[in-house]
Amino acid sequence: MTEFATLTIDGKTLELPILIGTEGERAIDIRTLRQETGFITYDPGYGSTGCCKSEITFMDGEKGILRYRGIPIEQLAEHSSFVETSYLLLHGRLPSREELTRTSVMLNDQSLVHEDMQIFYQNFPRGSHPMGILSAMVNALRSFYPELMADDEGFEITFLRLLSKVRTMAAMSYKISRGHKVVYPRPDYTYCANFLNMMFDTPVKPYVLDKDMVKALNVFWILHGDHEQNCSTATVRTVGSARANIYASLSAGISALWGPLHGGANQKVIEMLTQIHREGLGISEVIANAKDKNNPFRLMGFGHRVYKTYDPRAKIMKQMCDTVLPKLEIHDPLLDIAKALEEIALSDSYFIDHNLYPNVDFYSGILLRAMGIPTSMFTVMFAIGRLPGWIAQWKENLDDPEQRICRPRQIYMGRNANDYVPFNDR
Ligand code: SDX
Repeated sequence: MTEFATLTIDGKTLELPILIGTEGERAIDIRTLRQETGFITYDPGYGSTGCCKSEITFMDGEKGILRYRGIPIEQLAEHSSFVETSYLLLHGRLPSREELTRTSVMLNDQSLVHEDMQIFYQNFPRGSHPMGILSAMVNALRSFYPELMADDEGFEITFLRLLSKVRTMAAMSYKISRGHKVVYPRPDYTYCANFLNMMFDTPVKPYVLDKDMVKALNVFWILHGDHEQNCSTATVRTVGSARANIYASLSAGISALWGPLHGGANQKVIEMLTQIHREGLGISEVIANAKDKNNPFRLMGFGHRVYKTYDPRAKIMKQMCDTVLPKLEIHDPLLDIAKALEEIALSDSYFIDHNLYPNVDFYSGILLRAMGIPTSMFTVMFAIGRLPGWIAQWKENLDDPEQRICRPRQIYMGRNANDYVPFNDR
């Protein structure tokens, strides 16, 4: 039975329906507010605003819960692969063994990139940021592969094409940026193993796959798979709501993710830790700077709009740093600095009062460094992981009969009506 919220404005009382999600989240349905009252709501950053109903990802920010299609992220990180988790995000269920095998074969079939695309890469100025290149090249993909999308099968081919080719493009971009020969994907390698090989195999030193590294990369990308209506996903939905094609929508999402407050934070965390290490900055000094309202410095990798406790992904990322680095006989001083920062921050009243905990980006860069990924590519790694989530959310938006083109309103605070003044009278 539908519950209602009562709103009384200008002597008029409105009964607004209350929506209740499957995990008990509640929303006031205000779709009729403006036409009934002339009022709109005001919520910069959309902290209290829901843009959609979704079945893909559930987060509980107070309890630190994250589930993809109801399955806890901890179980997926332990038992699943990135390809299987991508299938789950898009299809809403885990694949059968045959379906997973078919998906893996199709990903390999789609793994090559049109040779003409290499000309694009070679003409970016040296030192161009990989996220700018990725956003441009994903948009360009449509020119080479006009989307099928006519039916579910066509959509699945487009989804797998994007998942496979964007990974290949990222490795290609790295090789070309170094002036090295591009390494092609191998049909006998799995998705993650292929990426590592395309990144690090060279004619003089063949890359030797390490199973721990391949597992770590699977987990890294699983942890980034989806995260409900974050800034970049909301961007992908918004662009898709105008019925722009999936390539253009993803290109916009990549651009949003690039922001240092969002996916760009993983690169900023490493730059912050490197500066602390290089300059021998005191941890207490860094924490004091983060608390100082007159100092623009923020403790990158800390804080989250939804999580008001430890980001469950950060926990797993930290555990992986503690297991993978020793196995690879790597001792990274930045990991020690990160742990020291976390220890002091989590006992500091400012961080406690502001509910600031490590988020997914705080330890992820340490793991990527151990894999040999250059810092400038960290956010590209985030983008590859987020691809299945973006695509699933874009499709869900397209299929949702309640969705319309995104067009928020505003409160105008500018000048009232005034007349044009000729130059002589100004
Ligand atoms: C991601 O949304 C998602 O799901 C994103 C993501 C995903 O998977 O898609 O999880 C990925 O983007 C993780 C976040 C990565 N960004 C960073 O690590 C950058 C550092 N963190 C912040 O800038 C900040 O915490 C945000 C951007 C993550 C959240 O910003 P909000 O929710 O808008 O919070 P806010 O900026 O309004 O801050 C609230 C208060 C402020 O203090 P007061 O003015 O209220 O006194 O907390 C303070 C802020 O100054 N604060 C910080 C801080 N983060 C917030 N103070 C110091 N260091 C920080 N990192």
